[in-house]
Amino acid sequence: MTDLSQLEADLAAQIEAAADAQALEGLRVAALGKSGSISALLKSLGAMSPDERREQGPRINGLRDRVAALIAEKKTALEAAELDARLAAERVDLTLPAPPRRKGGVHPTMQVLDEMIAIFAEMGFALAEGPDIEDDFHNFTALNFPPKHPAREMHDTFWLPENERGERKLLRTHTSPVQVRVMQRTNDKLPGWIANGQEPPIRVIVPGRTYRSDSDATHTPMFHQMEGLVIDRNIHMGHLKWTVDTFIARFFETPAVETRFRPHHFPFTEPSAELDVRCDRSGGEVKIGQGEDWMEVVGCGMVHPNILRTCGLDPDVWQGFAFGFGIDRLGTLKYGMPDLRDMFASDRRWLEHYGFSPFAMPNAATGLS
Ligand code: PHE
Repeated sequence: MTDLSQLEADLAAQIEAAADAQALEGLRVAALGKSGSISALLKSLGAMSPDERREQGPRINGLRDRVAALIAEKKTALEAAELDARLAAERVDLTLPAPPRRKGGVHPTMQVLDEMIAIFAEMGFALAEGPDIEDDFHNFTALNFPPKHPAREMHDTFWLPENERGERKLLRTHTSPVQVRVMQRTNDKLPGWIANGQEPPIRVIVPGRTYRSDSDATHTPMFHQMEGLVIDRNIHMGHLKWTVDTFIARFFETPAVETRFRPHHFPFTEPSAELDVRCDRSGGEVKIGQGEDWMEVVGCGMVHPNILRTCGLDPDVWQGFAFGFGIDRLGTLKYGMPDLRDMFASDRRWLEHYGFSPFAMPNAATGLS
């Protein structure tokens, strides 16, 4: 006959010593499972005489109930201990600094664009826009590039496949086609944002994307230009020089900046010039307004009479000047970026380094707040 009190004492001790839920479950199966020790005792009741069963039944059932209760109690205790351990291990230290939050920024090209617009807006220029996909007429012909002239090749044009009307459109190689769009009124149904024929006097700037098949440290296949166009009576080179000089001084935030016109050729301006600014390149970086070097910053000139005639303006009444800045290029010069291609590489570290806070808005007086 099994010693019930001995069995109960042994089971109680084992249950108390169970280290985890798994060990406890093992003990439960060994005692109360189908072939467990207590289940065997319960089964033995069937073979007993009624008197014996009356005596042993309550003792064995009592044993079963007490062991089951001990197991349940231990299970609760083990679960509570496990939760305590997890809470201790996963405790959040509120005194630790929060992980840094990624902030978006303004791309240097857009920053420079905003600065340029602020400066030219203060001088009374309005904004005009034209399409990136241009036709040969606006990009070349109307700008006095003779047909089959090598100057057309000078721009390494991206041509689009011929369309159903037999035309080959192109990605505009400069913003100058918008000069034509601003001056010439067409009957075409153009989307509202595309400039279309205004009466002189005209004073506009035209920022936008431009494209040439070219890539090195100072050229990228897509870049940004800002065209300027002024048409009025009695306009001469002096107005052009004052306008670009004033812009350069404001943009580079140095009144001492020195500029020079260097004769050049563009089919759509006569005379044509490139404007250089004095700078110092000796230390590897470019310092504006000092030193012995000259750097080209803008192509410009007086609007060619042929352009005016094409646009329906009488060159004996109206004259004007135009200029075309490289926006990204101005950014590389002002903010000391060695390679223009980085502007469009979408390298997040570069963008975080050179990007601008969206809250530092440019203002008209300084270009920057
Ligand atoms: N369109 C010229 C270029 O891209 C720049 C320019 C603009 C020159 C206006 C003269 C007048 O090189």
